[in-house]
Amino acid sequence: MAWVHPALGVVGALLTIWVGFLGLRSRQKRPDAPVARKRHRRFSTWAWIAVLVAAIGGPISTLLFRKDLKLAESLHLPVALLVAALMTGGWYTSRQPRAKAVLWEWHPYLGIAAMLGAAWALLLGLGILP
Ligand code: HEM
Ligand code: HEM
Repeated sequence: MAWVHPALGVVGALLTIWVGFLGLRSRQKRPDAPVARKRHRRFSTWAWIAVLVAAIGGPISTLLFRKDLKLAESLHLPVALLVAALMTGGWYTSRQPRAKAVLWEWHPYLGIAAMLGAAWALLLGLGILP
């Protein structure tokens, strides 16, 4: 069971990085921009959900299945929670209709920070695998 969280975490982190690239691609003047935009809208929500479930499941997994680990022993905890917060910011700033979206101009920057954080959380997670 100690592997369930890392497996979901890898999916969440890689999805975050992938949807981030889709979002950035959707802004460029290139033929595949409209497709990237559609995919970004669709899959970002799943990336966000995966990251939230990982953020809730990680500490539970540490407490229940990792007698060798204490809570907050590694930087993985703060970095991962930061990613969850940034992705929630991505969701919050992207709600439709656009005219009502708050701080829309922050959306790409929150997103890029989430991508970097996801890569960092992944590396830190690899360091505490069972
Ligand atoms: C963005 C996605 C992720 C989030 C939000 C997340 C969140 C967390 C949190 C909050 C903890 C508790 C840590 C503590 O109390 O010190 C944790 C534990 C852990 N995380 Fe993650 N994590 C993510 C991705 C990953 C990835 C990609 C890996 C592996 C490559 C990973 C491996 C682990 C491991 C091994 C533990 C200890 C518990 C266990 O073995 O199941 N995490 N995670
Ligand atoms: C992973 C990090 C993310 C990055 C790098 C990112 C980046 C971007 C960029 C560059 C755009 C185009 C902005 C513009 O046209 O000015 C965009 C649009 C959008 N993003 Fe994100 N984003 C991320 C995460 C998210 C999340 C978590 C959600 C929702 C849960 C989301 C939902 C949307 C939506 C709905 C749009 C509008 C698409 C459209 O115009 O049809 N994004 N994103």
